[in-house]
Amino acid sequence: MEYDVKDLALAEKGRNRVEWASQGMPVLKAIQNRFSDEKPLAGVRIAACLHVTTETAVLMQTLKAGGAKVHLCASNPLSTQDDVAAFLVADEDISVFSIKGEDRDTYYSHIHQALDLRPHITMDDGADLVSTIHAERRELLEDILAGTEETTTGVIRLKSMATAGVLAYPIVAVNDANTKHLFDNRYGTGQSTVDGIIRATNRLLAGSTFVVAGYGWCGRGVAMRANGMGAKVIVTEIDPLRALEAVMDGYQVMSMLKAAELGDIFCTVTGDIKVLRKEHFVAMRDGAIVCNSGHFNVEIDLESLAEMSEAKRQIREDVEEYRLSSGKRINVLGEGRLVNLAAAEGHPSSVMDMSFANQALAAEYVKKNGSTLQKKVYGVPEDIDSEIGRLKLAAMGVEIDILLPEQEKYLASWDMGT
Ligand code: ADE
Repeated sequence: MEYDVKDLALAEKGRNRVEWASQGMPVLKAIQNRFSDEKPLAGVRIAACLHVTTETAVLMQTLKAGGAKVHLCASNPLSTQDDVAAFLVADEDISVFSIKGEDRDTYYSHIHQALDLRPHITMDDGADLVSTIHAERRELLEDILAGTEETTTGVIRLKSMATAGVLAYPIVAVNDANTKHLFDNRYGTGQSTVDGIIRATNRLLAGSTFVVAGYGWCGRGVAMRANGMGAKVIVTEIDPLRALEAVMDGYQVMSMLKAAELGDIFCTVTGDIKVLRKEHFVAMRDGAIVCNSGHFNVEIDLESLAEMSEAKRQIREDVEEYRLSSGKRINVLGEGRLVNLAAAEGHPSSVMDMSFANQALAAEYVKKNGSTLQKKVYGVPEDIDSEIGRLKLAAMGVEIDILLPEQEKYLASWDMGT
């Protein structure tokens, strides 16, 4: 069996941590039990490019229980939990190609090794498998049934490919399921981003000025949690409706140039490039902390920051201090990569439970229906999304009301009781 992980001796630590995570993933475990009985993925080869975390390990166990053969590589060079990678290889016989801190060449060679499986299904978090297949491994297309995509940034990229007519196989946008983005993006990113910032810096949020760039589902979550910790939150946006929503949610909204003068901590969650750039670094206060929780490390213009700096040093494990010629210091967390995965452990298991339940059921759906799908980006079928919501509520012991037949009739009518 092929693999490339840091150290197989870490497997035992990984085993315990994966068991801990699985206790927070009752929906995925229920699917895993059904998959063990029914083997809906028998004979299916899946290449997965995901953050290699304890929660991802539970997804890998589920796909394996369903009968799939899986190759896993990382979707970010800094997010791999090496003990988890070792556990999957040593205990689960799953080929993993990822090492925390790997350089760019190793990162891409690992993607190629995952693809050497000749997958029927690709499972992406950021579309790196799809991009690599389209650019360099087109010979794999003949075996591919469909792919799934975990994150907003990946879905945007895949929809652009579909619009341009270049997408060569169907994709299910797991991110767009309600049981994914309303929970994972908002509550998962919210908590884990604040967790990453605190682990990296050990700074007090209460009383600090916290600037959130972008008020999508992730930005809403980060702003809500920073506010909950007592920070004064400023939101920056380019979309008028989102900006308006942030105002009515009680935050200050202003341009980044103004916010740059005020912020103690800056966090980008926009999905776009150069959100923090030279003019902002010039305006920032001495000691400002900048980080990113968007998918790619493109939101902070680190090249300009390096050019403006006279010196750079690692001052804490996940903190690099840039000293500008003016003497001012700007601190960058986790090399501008996803701070929640670089400096913390990513989203907690109970939200990944729903995200990865969508992934597992999307893989089953694609196995059944892939040959009927076109080269487009599809949403997760509504019945799958609702079923995951129902299962999650049941696992939490929450009961909800059921409509009376009379109420159902009223909702379906246009002339009753007006
Ligand atoms: N993305 C964000 N958090 C994650 C986690 N815990 N596992 C896998 N992917 C993630």
